Amino acid sequence: MVIAIDGTSSSGKSTVSRALGSHLKCKVIGTGSIYRAVASKMLYLNVDIKNLEHLKQVLDTTNIKTEFKDGKTKIYVDGVLQESKVLNSHEVSVFVPKVAILPIVRAFVKSIQYNEANNSDVIIVEGRDIGSVVFPNAEIKLYIDADLKTRASRRLEDYKRQGKNYTLEQVMQELDERDNQDRNRAISPLIMTSDAIIIDTSNQDVITIIKKIDAIIKEKLSNK
Ligand code: C5P
Repeated sequence: MVIAIDGTSSSGKSTVSRALGSHLKCKVIGTGSIYRAVASKMLYLNVDIKNLEHLKQVLDTTNIKTEFKDGKTKIYVDGVLQESKVLNSHEVSVFVPKVAILPIVRAFVKSIQYNEANNSDVIIVEGRDIGSVVFPNAEIKLYIDADLKTRASRRLEDYKRQGKNYTLEQVMQELDERDNQDRNRAISPLIMTSDAIIIDTSNQDVITIIKKIDAIIKEKLSNK
């Protein structure tokens, strides 16, 4: 069974996915982290992403593995564990939509997702196009959102923990721009499918949300 979780940037998708994964004792893949890992490698190698030949060469020799342990998804690129402070840095956050828009990158990440799903009985896959493109037949589809100011405040706290000082306005702008790029791209845009259940995390704690999702899953499965 695939549980597809999509939604806006910093809406709490990862937190909800991880908590649900621990509750259901199943694997979770945060596909944003995979796109971030690809973007980070391109930045590190200074790859000109307009040079598709070079991009293809780099992807052909890139090996990405995910591991879900102690409620966290770990990403290994070419055998090296990726640090979340690098993956979630402002630099990678601003660059990742430009990389995620490329069909060759999406195909690369999609194959990782299919591999993972084929090897799991129950899996939670979280991202932007999971319920619409990657797993359109997912049994459960959730769309997670929250108002922009709440999302930016959460992101700001993450940045503070990394020792980075940004203003709330700067982070609101970063998230808004990223969402617009993700929503308005031609390939795999962020959309809310008509069969997705919307969860607004603005004023709800994780425990309440997980209880609601658990009830939704039980009801959906009992109607099958
Ligand atoms: O979820 P997260 O904010 O880490 O995602 C980072 C970026 O990766 C998104 O803004 C988007 O550009 C890209 N992404 C995507 N498709 C997914 C997941 C993430 O394009 N399924």
